[in-house]
Amino acid sequence: MNTYLIGIDIGTSGTKTALFDEAGNVVASKTVEYPLYQPRSGWAEQDPDDWVRAAIEGLCAVASGIDAECVRGIGLSGQMHGLVMLDSEGKLLRRSIIWCDQRTEAQCREITETLGSEKLIKITNSPALTGFTASKILWVRENEPEIYEKCRHILMPKDYVRYRLTGELATDVSDASGVQLFDIGARKWSDEMTSLLGIDAGMLPSVYESCEVTGVLSENAANKTGLRRGIPVVGGAGDNEAAAVGCGVVSDGKAFATIGTSGVVFAHSERVKFDPKGRIHGFCAAVPGEYHVMGVIQSAGLSLRRLRDNVCAAECEAARRRGVDPYTIMDEEAEKSPVGSNGLIFLPYLMGERSPHLDPYARGGFIGLTAAHTRGDMIRSVLEGVIFAMRDSLSVFGEIGISPSALTLCGGGASSPLWRQIAADIFGCEVDIVKSGEGGALGAAILAGVGAGVYGGIKEACGEIIKPARTYLPNEENRKRYDELYGIYDGLYGALRETNMRLAEFCG
Ligand code: XUL
Repeated sequence: MNTYLIGIDIGTSGTKTALFDEAGNVVASKTVEYPLYQPRSGWAEQDPDDWVRAAIEGLCAVASGIDAECVRGIGLSGQMHGLVMLDSEGKLLRRSIIWCDQRTEAQCREITETLGSEKLIKITNSPALTGFTASKILWVRENEPEIYEKCRHILMPKDYVRYRLTGELATDVSDASGVQLFDIGARKWSDEMTSLLGIDAGMLPSVYESCEVTGVLSENAANKTGLRRGIPVVGGAGDNEAAAVGCGVVSDGKAFATIGTSGVVFAHSERVKFDPKGRIHGFCAAVPGEYHVMGVIQSAGLSLRRLRDNVCAAECEAARRRGVDPYTIMDEEAEKSPVGSNGLIFLPYLMGERSPHLDPYARGGFIGLTAAHTRGDMIRSVLEGVIFAMRDSLSVFGEIGISPSALTLCGGGASSPLWRQIAADIFGCEVDIVKSGEGGALGAAILAGVGAGVYGGIKEACGEIIKPARTYLPNEENRKRYDELYGIYDGLYGALRETNMRLAEFCG
């Protein structure tokens, strides 16, 4: 009898559900997209029922044509920090305010004033951040008191899907780390945080390690999906911690970078690590008892998508005629532009910025634009600007003693050979691509396999399953050119900070 495991990755642009065999090969996969609502500049919301519909549709698709008895476990991975509020009957109270929403600056100030920044960093390993869940909870309490009144349960995105699949209100240590009510060192909700902020700790879900079983597929969910009732569903992990498992970053010295909607650089650490300035995060890893550091930029793939949708109509049209993805044509255009895009620098702060600037008012831009620049230069400078912004976090890793000599690249952007080489040249280190590009979904499935007893442990399973496919080495000449350009890029955020604040004020 075959053994199958399912990973469900609830992303920002869509949910990917993938069925894997025991060796980690994809047997079937389905991605279902949904909208992102931006009712005001800097706001970002999604309908949690869209995530559930997408997961159910995905499960139906991957379950069709297989013997449902062979599915041994389900793992969930998902966008972190989103706030889902339920009433006493488990009904949704509002759309989810998601990770890239920037509306909560006032609430962040309130959290810092209440806790004091030293204590805040000591407990949660982070200054108060607009992206994190705690400030979103306070925003709803202050701005929508009638909704807060009715709220009895708080969940993160993947945990709402879990609730609808199993009936259990649960999360895992990695996703809980991003709520900012969690004691990272102790791996449990912080009584001090909840009581000082006046948040009822009873609203928070039970916390599990990522590979622990949190419940089983309900009869209702089984009927809707064609799977069997009773399949164990494990804690799973935040998308980045699950992606770490999915690309084998589960021991010291290992690191990866993701180019998804957001951009992430992530390094495993057996012990908890602090950046005293809080510029990067130090969260619980999916490996029980272990940790990681992570820098997040808000707009990585998002920057390229905005360029595609607003500027690259010609490339989209050419792609339609040739029957290829518009990004393939955009890469071809970018390849015509030299290293450094003829002196055009793109700042990817389209949704404010997190690591390392922690600035909701940061704004993006093309700096150095002249009449001579082409669309190819603009596309290439977006690819380069995103990697420069990620390199900023690697510099902070270096300051706290973490300097990886290689990075595995994953996420949608990693499918571009040009972006891979730019990453190797700008990071100045080896960039590896692994055979299964399934990242979070594979990581979640491996966690499910460990919980269901298919594998002996996460590290063992990764050793068996994750195999390198291709390595990109930095080109020395390009690396030097990029180092020079990074020196110029590096001054731009500070030079424009005041201007961007004024622009934000101007827009109200
Ligand atoms: C991590 C973060 C993003 C989201 C969305 O802190 O905010 O990576 O998880 O992918």
